[in-house]
Amino acid sequence: MKLLVTGGAGFIGSNFIRYMLSVHDDVEIVNVDTLTYAGNLENLIEVERDPSYTFVRGDITSEENVEGIFRQFSFDAVVNFAAESHVDRSIHMGVEAFVRTNILGVQYLLDASRAHGVGRFLQVSTDEVYGSLGDRGKFTEDSPIQPNNPYAASKAAADFMVRAARKTHGLDAVITRCSNNFGPFQFPEKLIPLMIANAREDKALPVYGDGCHVRDWIYVRDHCSAIDRVLRDAPTGSIYNIGGEHDVQNIEIVKTILKMLDKPESLIRFVEDRPGHDRRYAMDCSRLRSDLGWQPEHDFETAIAATVDWYVRHEAWLSNIRDGSYTGYYDDMYAKRLAEAEED
Ligand code: NAD
Ligand code: DAU
Repeated sequence: MKLLVTGGAGFIGSNFIRYMLSVHDDVEIVNVDTLTYAGNLENLIEVERDPSYTFVRGDITSEENVEGIFRQFSFDAVVNFAAESHVDRSIHMGVEAFVRTNILGVQYLLDASRAHGVGRFLQVSTDEVYGSLGDRGKFTEDSPIQPNNPYAASKAAADFMVRAARKTHGLDAVITRCSNNFGPFQFPEKLIPLMIANAREDKALPVYGDGCHVRDWIYVRDHCSAIDRVLRDAPTGSIYNIGGEHDVQNIEIVKTILKMLDKPESLIRFVEDRPGHDRRYAMDCSRLRSDLGWQPEHDFETAIAATVDWYVRHEAWLSNIRDGSYTGYYDDMYAKRLAEAEED
């Protein structure tokens, strides 16, 4: 199978490429990534000499780039990871890049997939498209689409473009909606790697609001195995929720990390909440389990311990990013939130 993976230099994409090349002999992968702040070829050192792997620097928001890539290679399938992926950036930095990559870029990929007769298009979407849950219940694939932040809205829009490409033009397209991933190679702006990095340096750990927001957490390798299963076996037009079915409050995650690193809880700072912060996510993945026989292989406790250990052992990877990642708004936002928390 000749596979186009977009956004493969990011967190989940790079884990997916390693996963696919390690479990399948019949897969060739072309990774197209424009290398934004979140794209890092260091994530792929392990596979860069693999003859079944090719990297092409390309931007999915350039119709010309996309067309050129589809003309050069003949793909059996496309898995689209490429995205602006951080909710806080979509709130504080402006949404243009989110709209361009997460919506327009997806449309260009859909158009090229159709024009070049690609066998299957898999859109990697998110549970964020469902918005927030109340005190009870879980998201199913039939839950209403009610995104609450600009990132989530852009991903929801893409889901609708994928749906339209299938209904209108008969493209073989499927969508996966996954919960919060954790594991190696995650950019340290996201909760788990940020907390590990700060705790290691005895810096404050910013917890938004009261810290009681609930997320479902899945080990990234389990997300990868689920995508593989959906890519190969799901009926056309299907949508699958993917999750670890391990719901936990943010504050508990932070305390777990501190305990593993033997650091004091006094490092925790409750800071101003994220605007529009969804209160609770929880995933019902029974469709994926019953239709395709998938189940996660990693329990949360073992996987979070392995993850903390990975970041401790890969200090150079982390400091390369931390030293080079000053983006103005982002560091200033944390500094402001922490200063306000200190004043209270
Ligand atoms: P990431 O930010 O780590 O990586 C995104 C990658 O996309 C980067 O390598 C970046 O360079 C690339 N990219 C961005 N714009 C591009 C463009 N215009 N053209 C080509 N490449 C571009 O993100 P991630 O956390 O690995 O998420 C990957 C996908 O999974 C995203 O679509 C995200 O919405 C989805 N998702 C993420 C999670 C999660 O917990 N991280 C959960 C569910 C779904
Ligand atoms: O649910 C899936 C989504 O998970 C993906 O679609 C996104 O691409 C991915 O970034 C992630 O979004 P979140 O906003 O949930 O991830 P983040 O790690 O930024 O935040 C997780 C929770 O932790 C959230 O409730 C906000 C909170 N948080 C986050 C940061 C970075 C804090 O309390 N403090 C922080 O410093």
